[in-house]
Amino acid sequence: MIAKRRSKIHGWGVYATGTIPKNTRIIHYAGEKISNQESLRRERRYIRTNHIWCFKLTSRTVIDAGVGGNDARFINHSCRPNCYIEIKGGVIWIRAARTIRKGEELTYHYHTDGEGLIMCRCRPGCQTLL
Ligand SMILES: C[S@@+](CC[C@H](N)C(=O)[O-])C[C@H]1O[C@@H](n2cnc3c(N)ncnc32)[C@H](O)[C@@H]1O
Ligand SMILES: [Zn+2]
Repeated sequence: MIAKRRSKIHGWGVYATGTIPKNTRIIHYAGEKISNQESLRRERRYIRTNHIWCFKLTSRTVIDAGVGGNDARFINHSCRPNCYIEIKGGVIWIRAARTIRKGEELTYHYHTDGEGLIMCRCRPGCQTLL
């Protein structure tokens, strides 16, 4: 259903290898479950390498895909994404927001509450800071 390839947005991305129907649970965001505090420590390190791997699970916990992550960690952000997030039973699901065609890059909205240090490259002229 999906494959990791080089992306026009940034580094690696994840692409549909066939049609994905709307609302399909495509992949879950795997990684180590850590506390908010530990996440802040790690993110400071990650931001220097220009990679954010931490995904907020609850107000107190974060999934760090830098440890034990799967291909979901290569899904890039878009301000006009074709996927959305569903958090259910402690699992972060990436689901299709609409029918996704073969060859399209998968994206979701990061909704980062970070420091806004990365200029978004989701499309030419995007001025958003991630
Ligand atoms: C979870 S990784 C996504 C995979 C990444 N492309 C890679 O090759 O490792 C998140 C990082 O990708 C980059 N990224 C994701 N979406 C982006 C976007 N729309 N514009 C610019 N950089 C983006 C940022 O550096 C971000 O910290
Ligand atoms: Zn953007």
